[in-house]
Amino acid sequence: MEPTASVRNKLEQLRRSLSTAAHAYYVLDNPIMEDSIYDQLYRELQALETQYPELVTPDSPTQRVGDRPASQFSSVNHNIPLYSLENAFNLEELSQWQSKLLRQLNLEELAYVCELKIDGAALALTYEEGILTRGATRGDGKTGEEITQNIRTIRSIPLRLNLDSPPPRLEVRGEAFIPLITFAQINAQRQAQGESLFANPRNATAGTLRQLDPKIVASRNLSFFAYTLHLPDFSQGDSLDYLERLGFLVNPHRRLCPSLENVAAYYQDWESQRQNLPYLTDGVVVKVNDYQIQKTLGFTHKFPRWAIALKYPPQTIPTRVKEIIVNVGRTGAITPLAVMEPVQLGGTTVQRATLHNADRLAELDVRVGDTIILQKAGEIIPEILRVIPELRPPESIPYQMPTHCPECNSVLLSDPTRCVNSTCPGIVRGSLAHWASSAALDIRGLGEKVIISLVNNGLVKSIPDLYQLTVTEVASLERFGTKSATKLIEAIAQSKTQPWSRVLYGLGIPHVGVVISQLLTEHFPDAERLSSASVTTISSIYGIGPEIAEAIVAWFSRGDHQNLLQALEAAGLNLQSVNIAPKTQNLAGKTFVITGILPNLTRTEAEALIKQGGGKVSSSVTQKTDYIVVGENPGTKLAKAQQLNIPQISTDDLLKLM
Ligand code: IVH
Repeated sequence: MEPTASVRNKLEQLRRSLSTAAHAYYVLDNPIMEDSIYDQLYRELQALETQYPELVTPDSPTQRVGDRPASQFSSVNHNIPLYSLENAFNLEELSQWQSKLLRQLNLEELAYVCELKIDGAALALTYEEGILTRGATRGDGKTGEEITQNIRTIRSIPLRLNLDSPPPRLEVRGEAFIPLITFAQINAQRQAQGESLFANPRNATAGTLRQLDPKIVASRNLSFFAYTLHLPDFSQGDSLDYLERLGFLVNPHRRLCPSLENVAAYYQDWESQRQNLPYLTDGVVVKVNDYQIQKTLGFTHKFPRWAIALKYPPQTIPTRVKEIIVNVGRTGAITPLAVMEPVQLGGTTVQRATLHNADRLAELDVRVGDTIILQKAGEIIPEILRVIPELRPPESIPYQMPTHCPECNSVLLSDPTRCVNSTCPGIVRGSLAHWASSAALDIRGLGEKVIISLVNNGLVKSIPDLYQLTVTEVASLERFGTKSATKLIEAIAQSKTQPWSRVLYGLGIPHVGVVISQLLTEHFPDAERLSSASVTTISSIYGIGPEIAEAIVAWFSRGDHQNLLQALEAAGLNLQSVNIAPKTQNLAGKTFVITGILPNLTRTEAEALIKQGGGKVSSSVTQKTDYIVVGENPGTKLAKAQQLNIPQISTDDLLKLM
């Protein structure tokens, strides 16, 4: 049926009401419509659009979450590059920056607009005739990725500008970010599912924006502060006000500062007040207000000369060590942890910090009763910086690593300190968590808490026990009912369909990460042949050295490991190749830099993986770096990457990219 004028009007009216209500909710933080009414109107709009699909417009509120995941993102060239910002680390450096400008301009004073520096990811949005037609990431500043589908899910980004006669084309830039509370929820969920945690909200934002499935992006509650508008004859202050009128969320804490003294006051105010913000900031951005002066000053090849980021010093706080405990990992490695008086640091309560290993602990010489300085620099994970010797209690003694395992009481080996009892509950819990992790058997719902409960209640003593569990047994555990227990049992059963390469990776054999297990299963189509292979045969595989081959042979030669394999086979797991996963080229054209110790891959494996996916690995961070893969104890490359705003990813993120 031909749509009538009244249908068209109705559609327009519904879209306007819904957009106005969403703007009031997400931008003005001042809801004007009941949720139930919003839902009712939304459904009405959806029904009409289903009836008249030819009348669906890209700015319709129903178009926020597309239902088809992208297979990959295409690249876009930024007409005007997205520049990075020069950094100043204190007021002295800021004043030197201004002196240079004043000399160059032959002026006595300059007025600035100060903004908060939001710790997120820059986006460039294109509006044609007032409609959002393209959204892109910053990428290297010149070329980014087209992620329009994902950007549409951000509700504080208008799909249509609030303008009666919009210009043919308008470009808006700003920062996408994840509020701290959502960040905490995402990580809590990831932890429960045994997935690796995002190190900070910036990583979480960059990782989310690059998700191929817009539904996942929509679930992450991203927001966006607009801060750049490409229109001449404005000032920065005017632009921000105008962006607000167009319907964008503009950070309310901006301040016009007639001189550098006001800038200093703004910085000092926010250095202490930022703790109260619901999102993370890592400094303030100081911009010359007048666009004419901005134009005169221009850009270096990397930065605008008319703006600078004044970064906050890393946050530190003293607290007292109440106890030093040790954790037993899946490999039996013993990690010391300091348990401290809880303190607020960077918006979270911190009460534990890793001391890494016996050597690091001895180097820091942290003792029970010591007052220490805890630091959180940009990263979310706190670190003990040093002990305050003046406050050390006189009776304190250096910490001694335990001689017996705190979990199973067996004698520990040293250098490095480790437990070698394969039935140790600490090792069992760690092995189960690894087995269930997303890169291994990917058992949804089998997170850390569930594992603790299963092991503590004596239901599971080894991996094969998982496959003997009954719904009644699981339902008897705290926080479980019949429904959730059935779901877990089904997820465990589902893991029997996982391929041999994942089973092999899930066994947690030392040095056998994702890539090595792929290589091994390509050469040894079943566990039996791999078990009887010699060091020479295994090390003849390109990419596997003799040291790794020896570790593999040693693992398979143990009777308890052979029993484990038999039990897994009896339980119905794939200990032979069914088919080999196709290789993807999703990383084509991307340059990666690796820093730190990666949790589940060796450096060689990570490099092989990237190359296998079509990507390049470089040893130093430059503007051309697309991603930095960050492990534990990252080096100076990370700081460089942060300066250049290069997305940070974990090995899990890397596997997902592939
Ligand atoms: S202005 C040419 N304003 O910081 C102007 N950037 O370290 C360049 N950022 O890439 C950006 N908040 O992703 C600007 N209020 C703000 C910002 C901001 C966060 C980010 C942005 C930029 C990075 C530079």
